[in-house]
Amino acid sequence: MTAEQEHFSQVYHLIMAAWGSQAVRAIASLSVAEHLDSGPLSAQDIALRESADPAMTYRLLRAGVALGLLTYDADQGTFSPTPMLAVLHKDSPVSLKHYAQAAIGPTFWLPAVLLPESVAMGSPQVVQVLGSSVFEYFGKNPAEARQFSAAMTDLSTPVIREAAAAIDVGTAKTVLDVGGAYGAFVSELVRRNPRLTGSVLELAHVAAAVEDETRERGLEGRITGVAGDFFESVPAADIYLLKHVLHDWDDTSCRSILSNIRDAMRPGARLFIVEMLISDTGASTGAALMDMAMLFATTGQERDLTQFDTLLTAAGLRRTQATPLLSPYVLLEAEAA
Ligand SMILES: C[S@@+](CC[C@H](N)C(=O)[O-])C[C@H]1O[C@@H](n2cnc3c(N)ncnc32)[C@H](O)[C@@H]1O
Repeated sequence: MTAEQEHFSQVYHLIMAAWGSQAVRAIASLSVAEHLDSGPLSAQDIALRESADPAMTYRLLRAGVALGLLTYDADQGTFSPTPMLAVLHKDSPVSLKHYAQAAIGPTFWLPAVLLPESVAMGSPQVVQVLGSSVFEYFGKNPAEARQFSAAMTDLSTPVIREAAAAIDVGTAKTVLDVGGAYGAFVSELVRRNPRLTGSVLELAHVAAAVEDETRERGLEGRITGVAGDFFESVPAADIYLLKHVLHDWDDTSCRSILSNIRDAMRPGARLFIVEMLISDTGASTGAALMDMAMLFATTGQERDLTQFDTLLTAAGLRRTQATPLLSPYVLLEAEAA
């Protein structure tokens, strides 16, 4: 292959990755990983269980083989899982099933198509396709909202374990997960620290499900959902968690969220932020691509340490620590200045 052909092939694969992503999403949606728990199955078997079209199911599963998620036994006409497929299983300890469904589902895929227009206009064109901002859209579309909250739990699980292990709660008794979705982060911290009780400040439609989720995690009675708006006010707690929230918002909005946390802080209270760190040079693929999602779907962005420090200072807070987590995540600790 000439260098020219190789570059053509590399760029072609970057483009075709979009179809591959949608195949992964469809395989997750058809619960292929769960069906194969009972052993190898034909496309027809899976189609029958999902009320799907057998010929199209076969073509989808064949793409799954090409993507490394499945193997095919031509003699038996059956498909089997590879270890990678386990990540699309709902019961996997490190599942991305809901993330596969939500991250490239209509709420993000439709505005993603307007990425060039967003860059040209200098603002996300999300209202053109969803009729509102992403979070307002979720308020009106409960099924997609539930899938998004579950996707946040999926995406967060590995980094949350690391972050919770790195937090010394000291004498704290209460912890508030600000914009915590179903409370995966606060759950992990509460599980590790039996004296802590937790709550999750969330939009009403998300807060309503927090206690059910908490029961499923075996933490019944230790975490409550609090319906509210972090732009209005934030309840008092000894420890505040803020994960993957600041990246959704522009600087002015971030200052408002952080100032509300600062106003609620009791003496000795601490704030822990988990976000991706981005830098001009050597930007990680994870952070740079998440930044694209923030560009086309929100007013936010991924930030570097200096940008986080500027936001904290403007809100009357002072960063005391920055602990690198699973790349490109960082755990920032702050207190009242
Ligand atoms: C990107 S998600 C992060 C969820 C969670 N912290 C995590 O990392 O998995 C942002 C969360 O902020 C919540 N949110 C958005 N606007 C909010 C508001 N005004 N007040 C409270 N929560 C809000 C959303 O419902 C969503 O669950």
